Amino acid sequence: MLQKIYIKHLNDYIDQSVTLAGWVLRVRDNGKICFLQFRDGTGFIQVIASKEDVSTETFEIMRHLERESSVKIQGKVVKNPKSPSGLEIIAENVIPVSESKSYPITPKEHGTDFLMDLRHLWIRAPRQNAILKIRHQIVSAIRQYFDDLDFTLIDAPLFTANECEGSSTLFKTPYFGEEAYLSQSGQLYMEAACEAFGRAYCFGPTFRAENSNTRRHLTEFWMVEPEVAYMDLEGDMELAEGLVQAIVKRVLEKCKLELQILERDCAPLENVISGNFPRISYTEAVEIIQKSGVNFNWGDDFGGGDETIIGSAFNRPVIVYGYPKEIKPFYMKTDPENPKIVRNMDILAPEGYGEIIGGGQREEDYNTLIEAIKAQGLAESSYQWYTDLRKYGSVPHAGFGLGVERCVAWICGLPHVRETGAFPRLPRRLKP
Ligand code: 4AD
Ligand code: MG
Repeated sequence: MLQKIYIKHLNDYIDQSVTLAGWVLRVRDNGKICFLQFRDGTGFIQVIASKEDVSTETFEIMRHLERESSVKIQGKVVKNPKSPSGLEIIAENVIPVSESKSYPITPKEHGTDFLMDLRHLWIRAPRQNAILKIRHQIVSAIRQYFDDLDFTLIDAPLFTANECEGSSTLFKTPYFGEEAYLSQSGQLYMEAACEAFGRAYCFGPTFRAENSNTRRHLTEFWMVEPEVAYMDLEGDMELAEGLVQAIVKRVLEKCKLELQILERDCAPLENVISGNFPRISYTEAVEIIQKSGVNFNWGDDFGGGDETIIGSAFNRPVIVYGYPKEIKPFYMKTDPENPKIVRNMDILAPEGYGEIIGGGQREEDYNTLIEAIKAQGLAESSYQWYTDLRKYGSVPHAGFGLGVERCVAWICGLPHVRETGAFPRLPRRLKP
């Protein structure tokens, strides 16, 4: 048996015979030549068998292979400038591994609900495969960005006793006679971690019991949350801008084929890395919405549609800072120059994708924080460990959270976040 290699590495084996192990995408033949579209998870390749060059048995096996049957292919790697990879395989032998009868996903148009029910199979499709590979590069670029900046990865717990982002989106679960919540954010724990490590980040799943069926909301999503001691809002914006640029740079470098499969226009992505992000205040953002003809009052929170309007006014991500205190969580630091606003920021993606990052400077003063907790009607006792941080060497600090799925949706140019993860969780989807 020849050495098994991956399609991804075929370029190193031109004019050599190799064995590939994978699955059948499609087969067609004209009686004399059989064309097999083949995939192994690392790529796609066309395998060709001519009746004259292989045994009759091999030819017959090959032309009767059904979609998604698993097979091993022995053949010679040759150049073909017409194929997307510039290569194809001239089959020498085909070894069936396991059959696939009546594969439920066919080339015809299926509804998204049908495909989501078959998500365990749908992730094999070239488009879905490309999205998940881009997600992988995004996650890897995120880790590398923070690791290169000397951040320490600290894992935040997923069972928590207190809320972080508002009681209306908490998933509650019994916890040995107590009530626990699934974490909405690791931020409060990262505030403890940054005072222990200077720069810390957590990266994991977070949960929101938001019964909103929009193209931007999941009930379970991945968030990366850096937190830095002795950093203010300006430093926070710089850190976040650098992260978004590092992510886009990585995808443009490593995912050319995937972006092509998705037919993603790369010009707007090139823009992201070619200059600094515009920074506008909440008040300026309100003016943009009002000028567009939409009725909006200072003090209201932005909805998805409002974010689309603001984001579309710029050709790269825009940083919006200084939101009204009234609509923001208890931990945000009040602007010392204007008590009506907080020292926070959101980053809105262009092309209508809206908020991908939320963060800002935190309240570091003990008494002010206690007042804010009380003012929002939260139980002071559940935050005792958190307020403690302000008693023992409190310092100015800031951080943010980037939602991986929204970032993937934007970079891939997808209409909905549901295709940004392998097995997404939505209000009406717990399976597969
Ligand atoms: O703006 P959010 O709620 O901020 C926080 O959770 C802060 N505690 C983060 C921090 O400062 N450490 O969420 C941050 C990001 C959003 O910008 C968005 O990208 C994503 O998380 N996000 C969601 N993604 C998918 N589905 C949802 N339901 C999301 N809610 C937030
Ligand atoms: Mg937010």
